Amino acid sequence: MTVPNLTLNDGHTIPQLGFGVFKVDPAETERAVSAALEAGYRHIDTAAVYRNEAGVGRAIAASGIPRDELFITTKLWNSEQGAATSRGAIETSLETLGLDYVNLYLIHWPRPDLDRYVETFQQLEQFKAEGLTRSIGVSNFHQPHLERILAETDTVPAVNQIELHPAFAQRALREFGEPRGILTEAWGPLGQGKYDLFGEKAVADAAAAHGVTPAQVVIRWHLQQGIIVFPKSSTPARIAENFDVFGFELTADEVAAIDALDRGQRVGADPDTAIF
Ligand SMILES: NC(=O)c1ccc[n+]([C@@H]2O[C@H](COP(=O)([O-])OP(=O)(O)OC[C@H]3O[C@@H](n4cnc5c(N)ncnc54)[C@H](OP(=O)(O)O)[C@@H]3O)[C@@H](O)[C@H]2O)c1
Repeated sequence: MTVPNLTLNDGHTIPQLGFGVFKVDPAETERAVSAALEAGYRHIDTAAVYRNEAGVGRAIAASGIPRDELFITTKLWNSEQGAATSRGAIETSLETLGLDYVNLYLIHWPRPDLDRYVETFQQLEQFKAEGLTRSIGVSNFHQPHLERILAETDTVPAVNQIELHPAFAQRALREFGEPRGILTEAWGPLGQGKYDLFGEKAVADAAAAHGVTPAQVVIRWHLQQGIIVFPKSSTPARIAENFDVFGFELTADEVAAIDALDRGQRVGADPDTAIF
């Protein structure tokens, strides 16, 4: 079982499959991340606002896995955007994680109403130069937000982490990022369980054909399109199941049938108007 590594535009590599910890209870996070590391995951996606970086850090420390075999992402929360506050935010995240550096640091949401994301990304450039993070990127950025970063800063974001699942496949944003070297990361890759994705015929038929679960089919759909994906689960059996996705391959027809589920249906907030 081998997770492919993708190469970011700055030369660092990222395991294409990871483990996400949004809504993992802080008290449960060490246990869940330890289960993920035991299952073989080496890429963890957290954020300051999840309030569980400490549990991620404890699981990393307890694992004994060499730091250079792990890929850790965290994110700058909206209230910390800006030159005055962003340094404190990354320093607090590193201290809470118990790490000297993260592999990837993201602006969590653009918050266009604040109009501070360009200045904030310039701060991230500085953090990268100082070695506090290996790579920098953005999350929930729409094309106009990316265009401003490309025009007004010196660094192409390594990734854009966006809501992405079969009912909300984000083709236009993926096609904007790809030629510019911005890899797409999917959040809510399983639709956060907010619609009956696993009951969709295209997903259920592929699962039956390959003798796998619907969740495994959806994770393969992401992987086969070059998307970086980190499903969340608090359930050890599902944590292992979601990692066991390298023993089969969807056919082109199966991928196309799942592609046809796209109906522009968000399950989360719209980045243009989100003000949390
Ligand atoms: N940048 C952003 O703004 C943003 C926003 C949201 C998420 N994220 C990141 O993306 C990661 C993944 O997204 P997400 O956590 O929102 O949603 P998700 O991974 O699409 O869905 C998680 C839900 O699916 C269930 N599930 C997981 N594996 C399953 C399986 N094999 N069979 C059946 N159900 C399964 C989980 O239940 P159990 O836990 O009960 O097993 C949980 O309810 C997050 O953890 C976070 O790291 C980022």
